[in-house]
Amino acid sequence: MTRTFSGIKPTGHLTLGNYLGAVRRWVEVDQHRSDALFSVVDLHALTVEHDPARVRRLTRQAATLLLAAGLDPDLCTVFVQSHVDEHTRLSYLLECTATDGELRRMIQYKEKSAEARASGESVRFSLLSYPVLMAADILAYGTDEVPVGEDQTQHVELTRDLAVRFNQRYGHTFAIPKATRPPVAARVMNLQDPTSKMGKSHDSGAGIVYLLDEPDVVRKKVMRAVTDSGSEVAYDRENSPGVANLLEILAACGNADPGELAGAYASYGALKKDTADAVVEVLRPLRERHAVLAADPGQVDAVLKEGAERARERARPVVDAAYRAIGLLPAG
Ligand code: TYM
Repeated sequence: MTRTFSGIKPTGHLTLGNYLGAVRRWVEVDQHRSDALFSVVDLHALTVEHDPARVRRLTRQAATLLLAAGLDPDLCTVFVQSHVDEHTRLSYLLECTATDGELRRMIQYKEKSAEARASGESVRFSLLSYPVLMAADILAYGTDEVPVGEDQTQHVELTRDLAVRFNQRYGHTFAIPKATRPPVAARVMNLQDPTSKMGKSHDSGAGIVYLLDEPDVVRKKVMRAVTDSGSEVAYDRENSPGVANLLEILAACGNADPGELAGAYASYGALKKDTADAVVEVLRPLRERHAVLAADPGQVDAVLKEGAERARERARPVVDAAYRAIGLLPAG
């Protein structure tokens, strides 16, 4: 059976980008047709300045949202990364496989380290080693498929390179994973700045739809989205990024094709209104289920506890095999 792994970082409130680019497919596709594990990757939230209480809160909130979005603990495994030691155990072996040069070439490292320096913060060493821990997350489970948005492509490529290199040096240990992406909305853009990604922690939030935004807030954000100076509705990411973004969001919400949808609209206003309605409808059940689950954190914690046990069972043999393969003496 195909093994699937993916993760989400609790560095901010989850966005429509996270949902359309990744989580929705985990729910609708991956958990049904593979042995799938989904993790709130809290260790990754420590690579930039962080507030401990906030990370803890956002970790539980992210897990609650994943369940509210429809991940079913009877079909898949939902857990918190730091509850399973195998991730950090394997990460060190992969640090001994990766090179300094290839980590410094990572786009997200370049961007995030520049951001940190610009705001006077020091760059944590873990920001550089981040993709190695991510590779460990994936490889520890013998993962075949990694359903992610477009921004994670380079990290998954590095993971493949490390797996191939490790296998060549020390004998076959890891499956070679591949990234899978949604047909549309693999890169949802910021509504106020459609040339940059809708990220969790970008700006004031005017261009970001959060999964827990109230319907009227969602409508306002979408209706105020920056479009272009023209008036014709065309699907052209290069020349009309704002309109293309709305078309992709609308298409993703209704499983339609953004190019075909473009022909159905004579004005930006109508497109915005339908997009706002579609997003509100897609998020409605999620918000409702979140409210129920959030009232019972004990239930979420129980799911996470069982998830960590299942994850550990799957990861331990793979990581133990990697320890043996690389030349470490078994503890006996
Ligand atoms: P993170 O937490 O930034 O995002 C979680 C998932 O959401 C996708 N995503 C988007 N997709 C489309 N449009 C957007 N605007 C958008 N923003 C985010 C991301 O591509 C991702 O799939 N490094 C990862 C977390 C991670 C991970 C892993 C993922 C750690 N270990 C192992 C997969 C496998 C990250 O920062 O995702």
